[in-house]
Parts: sequence; C-alpha cells; structure tokens
Amino acid sequence: MLDIGIGAGRTIPYFSPLFKSYVGIDYAESMVNYCRSHFDISNAVFQYQDARDLSGFHNDSFDFVQFSYNGIDYVNTADRQLILNEIVRVLKNGGTFFFSTHNLYGLQKLRKFNFKKNPYDLLRELRRCHQVRKQLADHGNSEEKDFLMINEGGGDFKFEYCYIKPEKQIVTLKKLGFNRIRTFSSESGEELGPDMPFEEHLGAWVYYLCQIVK
Ligand SMILES: C[S@@+](CC[C@H](N)C(=O)[O-])C[C@H]1O[C@@H](n2cnc3c(N)ncnc32)[C@H](O)[C@@H]1O
Repeated sequence: MLDIGIGAGRTIPYFSPLFKSYVGIDYAESMVNYCRSHFDISNAVFQYQDARDLSGFHNDSFDFVQFSYNGIDYVNTADRQLILNEIVRVLKNGGTFFFSTHNLYGLQKLRKFNFKKNPYDLLRELRRCHQVRKQLADHGNSEEKDFLMINEGGGDFKFEYCYIKPEKQIVTLKKLGFNRIRTFSSESGEELGPDMPFEEHLGAWVYYLCQIVK
C-alpha cells in the first residue's frame, strides 16, 4: 500500500496491518520524522516524497493507493493532474485508489456564521466567515464553476483548497482510465449515484473508490 500525505499518522495503525508492505509518504519532512519516531511497525516505512513526483517508485508497484483527508486539495489543478498521473502509473492493474476531496456543492455551507463563546475563536470565525463570503462574491455564482480554490481558514489562513464538482472529478478519473468509480457521502457514508444525485449532496466532502480493470 502507498499512503500519500500521512501527516501525523492517523491512518497508519488502521491500514498497515492490512497489507504485506505499507509505504507512507508526505512532502512535509517534519511529518515524516514525526511518524518515524512515533510508529515502529515492522512492515511500514515512512518517506519524504512529493506526490507530484513519485519517481522513487516503479510502475505497477501498489495494490492500494490512498490520499486521505482531502490531501489532494492542497495543490492547484495542474499539480492535481500530475498527482493523479503518478498514482495511475504506480498502481497495479486492478489496484484500488481511494481519496476524498472537497465538494463544490457543499461550499455554500461555509457561508454560515457559527457563534463561538471563546473570544479568540469568535474572532477567528468572524474572519473566516468574512473571507469565505468575500471570495464567493468575487467568484460570482460558484455553482456555475467546475472547481474553485478557496481559502476557508485551514492551516491558519495560509492555504487555498480545491473544491470540485463530483461529476467533473469523475470525468478526469475516467480520462485517466479508471473504469470502476464509486462515490460516498462524507456525512452519511451512503453511496452517491442515481438515488442521491451529486447536486443534491451538499456534504462537505466526497469519498472516491476507483479501479482500473483492464
Ligand atoms: C489533512 S492531512 C491528512 C493526514 C492523514 N492522511 C489523515 O488522513 O489524517 C494532508 C497531508 O497531506 C500532505 N500533502 C499535501 N500535498 C502533498 C503532496 N503533494 N505530496 C505529499 N504529501 C502531501 C500534507 O503535508 C498533510 O500532511
């Protein structure tokens, strides 16, 4: 298994026992060092590596590749394509790619102001809310877009994250050759599809389970 963007290692104890060999990578060296010092697991290695360039790994190396917790949303669309190309290259035929990404249809929810009792949290929420509303106003009707890069306060307001329409994400995945794609709601865990059309799913994220079966 290749686990991309391991961060502080939340997924390591769940996934490393399921595979003969587990490789966890992150482009933040401090995160890789943290995982090395906190997890001593015989079949697991942790490496400093950027998902945009997986040249350290051969073609067709992994049965399962994961990029959890919307890690793929940290980069712009050109780099997102590089990451997906690399994942397809290192994935074995019939292997599975699992990831989540922010849902453009869930974006309007970010406009809502959530009152906080703690003055520090209240100030932060005011800033977040103002910033989100301003960006949405600047972008016009967000639902006419296929994706948007939005700074919604994460990472102490340092980062923009990609929000994408699921049907647009699926077009990209199909172009890459994924021919079995299932999507799930981040809130209910239910599978999305004809009974729950994407535009009616206003959850914050969508999970994607994808395979290329030749
Ligand atoms: C939200 S954290 C998720 C951590 C963990 N996977 C989890 O599910 O709890 C996203 C991680 O992805 C990493 N990341 C983002 N873009 C990356 C890239 N291009 N290559 C490698 N790691 C990346 C970040 O450094 C961060 O540690």
